[in-house]
Amino acid sequence: MKYESVAVAGGTGFVGKNLLKALKKEGLKKVKVLVRTEQKAEWAISEGFTPHLGDITKRESLRGIFDETDVAVNLVGIISETREVSFYQAHVEGTFNLIQEAKSSGVKLFFHQSALGASIESPFKYPKTKAQAEEIVRTSGLPYIIFRPSLIIGKGDGFTKSLLELVKPMPAIPVPGDGKARFQPLSIDDWVRCFLKAINDDTFVGRVIELGGPEHLSYNDILKIMMKVLGIKKPIVHLPKSIVKLSLPFNRMLSFLGANIPSVSAEQIELLQVDNITDPGSIEKIFGFKPMKFEDTLRKALS
Ligand SMILES: NC(=O)c1ccc[n+]([C@@H]2O[C@H](COP(=O)([O-])OP(=O)(O)OC[C@H]3O[C@@H](n4cnc5c(N)ncnc54)[C@H](OP(=O)(O)O)[C@@H]3O)[C@@H](O)[C@H]2O)c1
Repeated sequence: MKYESVAVAGGTGFVGKNLLKALKKEGLKKVKVLVRTEQKAEWAISEGFTPHLGDITKRESLRGIFDETDVAVNLVGIISETREVSFYQAHVEGTFNLIQEAKSSGVKLFFHQSALGASIESPFKYPKTKAQAEEIVRTSGLPYIIFRPSLIIGKGDGFTKSLLELVKPMPAIPVPGDGKARFQPLSIDDWVRCFLKAINDDTFVGRVIELGGPEHLSYNDILKIMMKVLGIKKPIVHLPKSIVKLSLPFNRMLSFLGANIPSVSAEQIELLQVDNITDPGSIEKIFGFKPMKFEDTLRKALS
């Protein structure tokens, strides 16, 4: 490893936990993790990391998080807004707060995780606020690397979890819209490999890098592959997205009553209709290795 110390915001999430595991494997001794609860602080300590209790939407709580830190990593992201926190607060204000802290501590590199499809012009809040956060990083004056990944798949990832909740119990699989929008699922192991390569190579500094797996797969394809891996066969039923949106409050109510229904927002249903892809050769061209195919990634994630 080129650097001696890393501090990770979002280290308690799916991508973050995999990254922390990899940093440990690399033998990095000084790893700090932003945590939001005492319980997570205890978890961090038990794993050999230094916890920093705070919340990226609260600037004061971040003071000192990047002291004596070479690389600041921002993996914080939300996929739906809550009453407490909006996309703007979590993505834009949160990134601004981290950047201010990184500047005052003089970090050597700021790694920022955005998302494929991030766009200032997007009518949707998730991709728009992701792009606004990128802008803050790009204009910060700090050396930075920005990743824009497509869906990241691995044990415990949120996307596979909600698909399983849909595919397993239902006699038929409901799909909002025609299911033809394409995605480019990427294995978490490959994401980690790209991360390690990027932060150890100065030629990656100042770049915004789109990355995805080796295939463009429609949502229908993804469901079919998932059924193949699970060894089940069920019909896919396409529903008008307006109907699915109308059922959202009802679904939420059922979830509160304990029904196992994946919670989705109206915006997520809309985003499911939009291609989320880049060059299928991106990883091989940029990072010099062949990424894993979705079916193999899924088998590993579910094993
Ligand atoms: N997973 C994917 O397929 C995918 C694809 C493209 C881009 N991304 C991006 O990659 C990043 C990581 O994704 P993920 O799948 O690992 O998400 P995740 O599992 O939901 O983890 C989100 C992380 O953000 C933290 N967090 C949320 N709000 C926070 C706040 N206000 N202050 C401090 N921490 C906060 C969470 O902390 P708690 O543990 O306290 O909740 C958690 O550590 C996100 O930026 C996401 O947008 C993910």
